[in-house]
Amino acid sequence: MTLDTANLLSVAWEAATTAGAFIREHWQHPKNIDYKGAIDLVTSVDRECERRMVELLQNHFPGHSILAEEETDLVGSQSTHRWIIDPLDGTTNFAHGYPQFCVSIALESDGEVILGLVYDPLRGECFKAIKDEGATLNGGPIRISGVKELDKALLATGFPYDQREKADFYLSFFKAFMTRSQGIRRNGSAALDLCYVACGRLDGFWELKLRPWDTAAGALIVEEAGGKLSDLSGNKFTIWGEETLASNGAIHDEMVNAVMTTGDTRNSLTKP
Ligand code: IPD
Ligand code: CA
Ligand code: CA
Repeated sequence: MTLDTANLLSVAWEAATTAGAFIREHWQHPKNIDYKGAIDLVTSVDRECERRMVELLQNHFPGHSILAEEETDLVGSQSTHRWIIDPLDGTTNFAHGYPQFCVSIALESDGEVILGLVYDPLRGECFKAIKDEGATLNGGPIRISGVKELDKALLATGFPYDQREKADFYLSFFKAFMTRSQGIRRNGSAALDLCYVACGRLDGFWELKLRPWDTAAGALIVEEAGGKLSDLSGNKFTIWGEETLASNGAIHDEMVNAVMTTGDTRNSLTKP
């Protein structure tokens, strides 16, 4: 079956901007916050954005499956197509009124992500990619940076919600990159971090324990902008895995080698 990508993109855009407008209305107001874990927050805005996006997608594509972070895991009659959604990536930022968050929406076809869209509602920036058709920012093509060495690179990372219990473990990677790069940012939205690698604002990014809704759209956008993804050992990346390493490609091996210097810590990666 041939896919009408223009229609898919237009519905993805409508879903992302519907959620984005709602986020923009609420980000400077008091939040209703629930705790999924000690420092893992969800607000009523996350849930309402997800509800509106799911409703819209179901109206347009009643047979498609939908996986979204908060409360949706639907299997449709046409389950070869699955939307993967983070209705609000950067909830901790949002809850504090810190202006760095986005909406992330991706479409899988037969298990492969073929469309990704990340929308930053405060900056009005829309990052998009279609498999094999390149990546754009507000309609203009984007490319990864030309930085050739880790020594000259600006990186970003994030810390999983078990950061209190495993601080030393996560800090060992931070130290390896802190001592080899020009600087590290911790922006608080993994989907935007990936898009920033794609458009050359960052040269590399790593994080552990991201979930498919954090990476599905952003990873395709990185690849389509000419970047590279792997796990922390340089093996094939999957949105279902525990490790994300994204870069402009040129510094990728150096980043993998930096991870390897963490030695015993690295060896415990599969059983931290
Ligand atoms: C989180 C953000 C954050 C990253 C966390 C993610 P959420 O997503 O992307 O930057 O460090 O690992 O879980 O919970 O705000 O949707
Ligand atoms: Ca997220
Ligand atoms: Ca989220």
